[in-house]
Amino acid sequence: MKVIAAYSHKGGTGKTTTLMMLANAIEARGQTALLVDCDPQQNFAMYRRNSQGEGFDYWSDRMDVIYLDFEGTTVRQLEEALLAADESGKYDYALLNLAGADHPFNRLALRYAELTLVPFKPAATELAELTPALNVLKELEQESEVGQVRVLFTMMRSKLSAAQVLYKEAAEQQYPVMQTHIKETALFADLVMRGLLARTIEGEEPHAQGLRKTEIGRMKEALADCMGLLEEVNGIIGSEQ
Ligand SMILES: Nc1ncnc2c1ncn2[C@@H]1O[C@H](COP(=O)(O)OP(=O)(O)OP(=O)(O)O)[C@@H](O)[C@H]1O
Ligand SMILES: [Mg+2]
Repeated sequence: MKVIAAYSHKGGTGKTTTLMMLANAIEARGQTALLVDCDPQQNFAMYRRNSQGEGFDYWSDRMDVIYLDFEGTTVRQLEEALLAADESGKYDYALLNLAGADHPFNRLALRYAELTLVPFKPAATELAELTPALNVLKELEQESEVGQVRVLFTMMRSKLSAAQVLYKEAAEQQYPVMQTHIKETALFADLVMRGLLARTIEGEEPHAQGLRKTEIGRMKEALADCMGLLEEVNGIIGSEQ
């Protein structure tokens, strides 16, 4: 079981979206994942809820959600849950959706991750928060308490301003970055909250009309982006169990 975490000190950097993109790609490939909400917002649980409604179910029994947040859970409990999940042989991946904070729980949780993704949108305020997060990871690295780390550029416009180019370079100088960039697309972020993309496309494409048909087309593009992200992740950590 490959454990992947998304980490930042700042809220709203794209942690949950990144992990949901991976969940989409994992499910579309026919693999399994344990989605671990370590944030009281419980975004994975919300995602699952949004995927099921009257007359439709775009959730998958290959995805399980558990809730172990930093307020009510000890790191020991998280470790036990991850060990049990690994031993069950049921999951190809576990995705740790951490709260956006420098919290001791997060520092400890990161020890279980083979890969930590740090989403970063090139902007002045984001850079101010990125450096301390990367410094925590460097500290953990020195104690061999963290796996691989990659900065992931997110909410990227097709053309960056001169200032944004500088913020991007500043991030690149601190840590290795992913080749994959996540585009800025409010539509994608919205679509991804509504259900697992592959399941939605499969369920609706045959009879979609008009605007819904257009939306399904966008979902396919979004799913291709998800697959690209997972492919790069697998290239870093290997995809075998
Ligand atoms: N690529 C994107 N393009 C446009 N909007 C995005 C993108 N990624 C995320 N968003 C939006 O930005 C907001 C924050 O994203 P997300 O919830 O993934 O961040 P987070 O780091 O998990 O936040 P939190 O710290 O609150 O858990 C959400 O409203 C989401 O819809
Ligand atoms: Mg989140």
